[in-house]
Amino acid sequence: MSKIDRKAKMTGAILPGNSTVEFRQYEIPVPGYGEVLLKTKSSTICGSDIRAIYHQHLGKGPEGYQPGMIAGHEPCGQIVEAGPGCRRFKEGDRVVVYHISGCGVCNDCRRGYMISCTSSLHRKAYGWQRNGGMAPYLLAEEKDLVALPNELSYTDGAQVACGFGTVYEGLEKIGVSGNDAVLVAGLGPVGLASLMLAKAMGASKLIGTDVVKERMDLAVKLGLADEVVPSDGDVLAKVMALTGGHGVERAVDCSGNDKARQLCIRATRKWGKIVFIGEGGTVSFHPSPDIIHDQKTIYGSWVTNIWRMEELVERIVRWKIRPEDLVTHRFPLEKAPTAYALMAEGKCGKVAVVFDEEIK
Ligand SMILES: NC(=O)c1ccc[n+]([C@@H]2O[C@H](COP(=O)([O-])OP(=O)(O)OC[C@H]3O[C@@H](n4cnc5c(N)ncnc54)[C@H](O)[C@@H]3O)[C@@H](O)[C@H]2O)c1
Ligand SMILES: [Zn+2]
Ligand SMILES: [Zn+2]
Repeated sequence: MSKIDRKAKMTGAILPGNSTVEFRQYEIPVPGYGEVLLKTKSSTICGSDIRAIYHQHLGKGPEGYQPGMIAGHEPCGQIVEAGPGCRRFKEGDRVVVYHISGCGVCNDCRRGYMISCTSSLHRKAYGWQRNGGMAPYLLAEEKDLVALPNELSYTDGAQVACGFGTVYEGLEKIGVSGNDAVLVAGLGPVGLASLMLAKAMGASKLIGTDVVKERMDLAVKLGLADEVVPSDGDVLAKVMALTGGHGVERAVDCSGNDKARQLCIRATRKWGKIVFIGEGGTVSFHPSPDIIHDQKTIYGSWVTNIWRMEELVERIVRWKIRPEDLVTHRFPLEKAPTAYALMAEGKCGKVAVVFDEEIK
């Protein structure tokens, strides 16, 4: 039976859209049919939170933040109450929340891609259109849960909820193996995760680029790249020189920046594949010389599906990698304003808001 004191309220962090964080009091939810109540353990911050919510509420549709919603779309925690009708998960289970709850019956949901659920009424992303992980408790639907293996921490799991899941999907779309030199443009948490996963998948040469020194230094310090080059006027020539004049087999843009996207396209060799993960902005290139005549393919990739997320957590254990190694800063919930400000400044690795045993 539940030990939760429902007379007490919980504090949740919201993003008003003026580069600040505010706290509000919320009832501790009671799980209904097919729902669970999680004790939040770790809630990491994604670049999309900064880009589309923190500074300004820019997002529309699926990226539209509903003012007053508890923020945080990378939640991981432990089930403390399971509502009636749960079929697989139970109290005590450690779980990652696939961060979008879909209608369950549209074509995209049936493929496991609740990210692109077509129901405007039923599709709700945690931390955007329904309450997310920046509070001590989270109400989630059982169908959105992925079991967190015992070998992984809650802070490993939180990053799978969006970042690592997204990267794994992008890398699976372009296919990465020991045949490949891989260029990653943008070394924020998503770019660092791209290097970590591409290496685990066998990539034989990893090249990273960014414009922020602290981020390049971190990629070097963590040993995630063979080469890190500043993203300046010489970067294309340097990447070509590092690959025998051919270019890389695979490139991943994690910056959303026009120049970096152009670099990814041009630094990829004939027959190569490029994936765009970084969002927003624009890109201009010359289709005939840049892609058509060199037989290149550009993929767009949005989050992942839930079965791939389930396979990813299993493989992360087998590969003996730890997503939490990318976390440079952990804060308790009351320090959420500092956590978001730090992530917005961009001179850090992954930033996590943590609870209970994840406070270190
Ligand atoms: N496609 C998806 O499903 C999906 C999911 C999650 C996040 N994202 C997006 O991925 C991107 C990265 O996320 P993040 O959390 O790492 O954010 P981030 O903003 O911390 O990282 C972006 C990095 O790109 C770098 N950059 C900017 N201009 C550059 C240039 N010209 N060359 C090289 N690097 C450059 C920045 O310095 C920064 O380090 C964001 O756009 C985010 O919205 C997409
Ligand atoms: Zn995200
Ligand atoms: Zn749907």
